Amino acid sequence: MIASGSVPRLFIARRLAVDPAAVAGDGLEIDQWDEERPIPRQELLRRAAFADAIVATLSDRVDAELLAAAPRLRVVANHAVGYDNVDVAACTTRRVWVCNTPDVLTDATADLTFALILGVARRVREGERIVREARWKYWAPTMLLGLELRGAVLGIIGYGRIGRAVAERARGFGMEVIWSGGSAAGSVPLDDLLARSDIVSVHCPLTPATRHLIGPPQLSRMKRTALLVNTARGPIVDEAALCAALEAGTIGGAGLDVFEDEPRVHPGLLGRDDVVLVPHIGSATGATRARMAELALTDAARVLRGERPLHPVNEVVP
Ligand code: GLV
Repeated sequence: MIASGSVPRLFIARRLAVDPAAVAGDGLEIDQWDEERPIPRQELLRRAAFADAIVATLSDRVDAELLAAAPRLRVVANHAVGYDNVDVAACTTRRVWVCNTPDVLTDATADLTFALILGVARRVREGERIVREARWKYWAPTMLLGLELRGAVLGIIGYGRIGRAVAERARGFGMEVIWSGGSAAGSVPLDDLLARSDIVSVHCPLTPATRHLIGPPQLSRMKRTALLVNTARGPIVDEAALCAALEAGTIGGAGLDVFEDEPRVHPGLLGRDDVVLVPHIGSATGATRARMAELALTDAARVLRGERPLHPVNEVVP
């Protein structure tokens, strides 16, 4: 139902892990696409037309078309730390704040990174299948030998909040940690990191500069036994090139939480035993998803009250 009047309207583009009214408070009207599946584009454009604020998810494209359809819009609070789904420059030009949800998902995402590292390094998927398919006939000293983490080199691409949290966990496992990217002190060149690492883990944001950062030349620099893990954004890795490298045996395996064209997954990955695939669940713990929703809702409500948001990624001139 679309009401008119002076009460600002917050549109929430997905079902959240919290009750929005309990967080966003009084003085605004809430409209919500209260479903687990994404809102269809035309419906998003239609509902955005009446919105002063939008809580968007990473599957909602916030671009010039959406901004044109949303003349009242003052803030897009993205329910994610990454905001590659948002045209930030276009929002800034339109004086629309863009906010994200940093920090609260750092630990959950670093934990899932380790689930993938361990899953691939210790061949959990293969072991699972052998047991479930009743192919486990006897214990053997040579069965399913994996990579020992103690002493292995972990190369972290993107040494920001999540990269550092992964490094902290890795040191607990006795791994040697090297990193590359940004202005981080001690950063090594990407080519060196790729050549030295037993496991390469991707943690940089997706930008025009990082799209296909890992392509054929980078994959060919990795050790034949090395594992590639990606919990950042799918398009940072050239998925077809990754499939080709796995197929050719020039790298040892992969653990992927994110994909180039979600929810589509390159068919070449689906049948492989040397990859672990999960559906973009890096931040998916109950506590973290509740905190993400709270941050996004709080910032949307702050802007509607005329306050500065807590986690802006742009600067809006009043
Ligand atoms: C999830 O992918 C996020 O960016 O928060």
